[in-house]
Amino acid sequence: MAYRCVLLVILLAAATQMNSVHTTILTASPETYVSGVTANLTLKCSPGETIGVVSNIAVFQLSKSGKLLATGKPTEVILGDGLRTNKYSAAQQIDPNNLNNSFLLFTILFPEEEDEGTYKCDMNYEDKQHFLKHAECEFNLAQNASDGISVQKRVDQTLQQVENLMTRINKLETQVFTLVTENNNQSQTINELSSKASSHVGFFVTLSDKLTIHEKDVVQFDSVKLNNGSAYNDTSGVFVAPRSGFHVLNLVCEIHCDASIRMEMMLQVNGTTIIKLFVSGADVARGSQQSGSLVYDIPKGSEVKVVVGQIQTDSDATVQLIGDSLSYFSGYFLG
Ligand SMILES: *[C@@H]1O[C@H](CO)[C@@H](O)[C@H](O)[C@H]1NC(C)=O
Ligand SMILES: *[C@@H]1O[C@H](CO)[C@@H](O)[C@H](O)[C@H]1NC(C)=O
Ligand SMILES: *[C@@H]1O[C@H](CO)[C@@H](O)[C@H](O)[C@H]1NC(C)=O
Ligand SMILES: *[C@@H]1O[C@H](CO)[C@@H](O)[C@H](O)[C@H]1NC(C)=O
Ligand SMILES: *[C@@H]1O[C@H](CO)[C@@H](O)[C@H](O)[C@H]1NC(C)=O
Ligand SMILES: *[C@@H]1O[C@H](CO)[C@@H](O)[C@H](O)[C@H]1NC(C)=O
Ligand SMILES: *[C@@H]1O[C@H](CO)[C@@H](O)[C@H](O)[C@H]1NC(C)=O
Repeated sequence: MAYRCVLLVILLAAATQMNSVHTTILTASPETYVSGVTANLTLKCSPGETIGVVSNIAVFQLSKSGKLLATGKPTEVILGDGLRTNKYSAAQQIDPNNLNNSFLLFTILFPEEEDEGTYKCDMNYEDKQHFLKHAECEFNLAQNASDGISVQKRVDQTLQQVENLMTRINKLETQVFTLVTENNNQSQTINELSSKASSHVGFFVTLSDKLTIHEKDVVQFDSVKLNNGSAYNDTSGVFVAPRSGFHVLNLVCEIHCDASIRMEMMLQVNGTTIIKLFVSGADVARGSQQSGSLVYDIPKGSEVKVVVGQIQTDSDATVQLIGDSLSYFSGYFLG
């Protein structure tokens, strides 16, 4: 317990007037430890025998060899600079209405050899006359003496140390895994953002020649004028949205047929028709051009294509989609 405190009182009391010196109490629980075995240890700084003369506590401080470990003020508790927060922590309770129950706690998880030494508790306070006073106390923290303990006890301790180490390693592994996942997530987000920032998605495709079309054909615009993001596939005629968002799409069709005709050209997303161009006439041998454009919210992975709809003609006359930049399909990602 606080032997050092008692010693300090006697020494200081001898040097000054009796009853004029007061000390704090500094205790450790447990009072000794075994490195790697003792899970944690708490040092407690409390007013001790000053309590009769204190009217107000200003600050508690815990230090070791002049290095500040923790400071407790009525409003806050501060852990010393450079202390690892996964090993050391501090808590405080300063209650002006119950000074007996005021203290500063300093906890060490798995105390090691380096935690041995002399700890000091300082307290600044106002006495009953409201004079600022100081009280202090020391505690010598040591590891359990290992000499003289039985071989069996030493083996038990070593096993316990190994077991504790395994637990701590497992905990660390989990933390590392979480950090790596977080890091991967962040890299992924950064990649997504940078690819978003740097690449544009847009296509403009037309036909190199006349194309004879039939109902249900997917029009393969074979002449690719622009295909940023490579999202349009000129083999299948399908644009696969690489990103979700608003897309602007345009479709222009120039139809030729040597007979009377009624027909539709459809723009589809995942097989669902979004717009239709309607072509009709008694004789469209000179061609009939229709166009449509739209903005549409398209989820990533959606397939956008141009499909030939129902064709009604008087005869078996062929129906053609005219190239030479008269028929084309284009689109871009808006955002
Ligand atoms: C301190 O150790 C005790 C017993 O070993 C345990 O019950 C308690 O949860 C530990 N406290 C902290 C803060 O790890
Ligand atoms: C605080 O401690 C002092 C001295 O031990 C005692 O006289 C007093 O009654 C205590 N006060 C309370 C509120 O417990
Ligand atoms: C420290 O030593 C004491 C006395 O030998 C013993 O009672 C106590 O259990 C030991 N503590 C640890 C953590 O081994
Ligand atoms: C990483 O991202 C996935 C899905 O985006 C999420 O479920 C997971 O919680 C994230 N993990 C971390 C550690 O942020
Ligand atoms: C479009 O793609 C070409 C090459 O495919 C590239 O040089 C150009 O920078 C891209 N333009 C935009 C706006 O992304
Ligand atoms: C383009 O479409 C063809 C036919 O469906 C397919 O075989 C090919 O894999 C596609 N190309 C790409 C880059 O997806
Ligand atoms: C179209 O299908 C793709 C792939 O299955 C899907 O990711 C997308 O959400 C679908 N689009 C719509 C509009 O349902």
